[in-house]
Amino acid sequence: MAQRETWATRVGFILAAIGSAVGLGNLWQFPFKTATNGGAAFVVFYLAAVLLIGFPAMLSEFVLGRRTKRNAIDAFGRLGSGPWRIAGALAVVTGFWILSYYNVVGGWVLRYIVGSINGAYFANPGEYFAAVSAGPGAVLAQAVFLAIVVGIVALGIEDGIEKATKVMVPSIVILMVALAIWVATLPGSGEGYAFFLSPDLSTMIENAGTIIPFAVGQAFFTLSLGMAIMITYSSYVGRDDNLILDGGSVVITNTLVGILAGLVVFPILLTIGAGADITTDTGGAGALFVATAAGFGSVPFGRLFGVVFFGVVFIAALSSAISLLEVTVSYANDNYDVPRPMLSIAIGIALFLLGVPSAWDTAWLTWFDNIAYQALLPLSVLLTVLFVGWVIGRESVEELLSGAEGYATFGTVWLWTIRLVVVGGVLLTLALGINELFLVEDAAFFAPF
Ligand code: TRP
Repeated sequence: MAQRETWATRVGFILAAIGSAVGLGNLWQFPFKTATNGGAAFVVFYLAAVLLIGFPAMLSEFVLGRRTKRNAIDAFGRLGSGPWRIAGALAVVTGFWILSYYNVVGGWVLRYIVGSINGAYFANPGEYFAAVSAGPGAVLAQAVFLAIVVGIVALGIEDGIEKATKVMVPSIVILMVALAIWVATLPGSGEGYAFFLSPDLSTMIENAGTIIPFAVGQAFFTLSLGMAIMITYSSYVGRDDNLILDGGSVVITNTLVGILAGLVVFPILLTIGAGADITTDTGGAGALFVATAAGFGSVPFGRLFGVVFFGVVFIAALSSAISLLEVTVSYANDNYDVPRPMLSIAIGIALFLLGVPSAWDTAWLTWFDNIAYQALLPLSVLLTVLFVGWVIGRESVEELLSGAEGYATFGTVWLWTIRLVVVGGVLLTLALGINELFLVEDAAFFAPF
């Protein structure tokens, strides 16, 4: 067998993981979920979910990948009995499902680049979003974004994108910091900060049941967990790498980008957001777009800022979408004897069809998104941590500590955290989420509208 590749440098692995993690999940999804789930109360649950559930779960994926040095499905098959391969398969399905509407939002981003060039959204940012996010135009934009993603994967030229990501992630941070500073100078921005940052205890307690599934789902989505990507990336990591510190860097950077997005979006929405209702569905999904568009509409060189900003969002979305498609394509590629370009195109067509309802109407997008957050992602992560914590067990601590010798206590705490806290937390999330989807009156599952 040929020597398996490894990352040339440790920083290469960390940056690739950050590149996958930083995407629409931070810039679009996080402000959106915060807006529709009670503001600061959501942020508190989200941060707790990242720390107590997301971070340990990410380390589980790292351990599984580096231990087996296999693709996700074979990683399960190698260390466990046959049925565990289903866990890997679920991860592939989840990635496919999420990518179907990720492309739709990618299409919106493309139209915002155009809108920045011709100034189309300056007059009425809220109306522009409503027009961009529905109907045949949105389907077309989705197709264009998807075609770019498929083209890159079919040609196998991700390398270039990966290099671009390394420039783009720092650019996003710099741009967001600049925007956040400008936003801080707006009169009335305090109200936005209050909505985003000062949690109200009674809201938290009262709405815990509905907030928790979204907070946990957001942690998984934004960290690219439950979709086999971190398993795959870490399968190329050397035994002397400190997985704990690597994971910590990814989690911290990723969280900061999300917080920055919130610091930009909420003050703008509540000051010059042109009456956008941040708590309704469309206003929620439109939070990033309406807010930043309103911002660019009211500053000098707004068009230039707009093009640069949405261009950067585009690259962030593109790099994440590519790694999502990679998961499906490389699985299919390993198992079926079909040339890679054909596979990419066939999967692209299936993705397009699955995404049409989401493009047509944001109510469908919300429905697809809810299924992912409340059922697919938690279930997929649950299987992974059960496997790593209980099936592999002690051996996984040994793997975690390879390259992190001074962290023995952390290793033990980590093992019991994934065995009990993560498993318990995710079970709770699933129960609450499934209750919401299927059982409550006017259940979202049966009536997306
Ligand atoms: N984390 C990415 C984001 O925040 C989206 C994402 C979720 C992802 N799962 C993934 C990207 C798997 C690549 C692979 O936008």
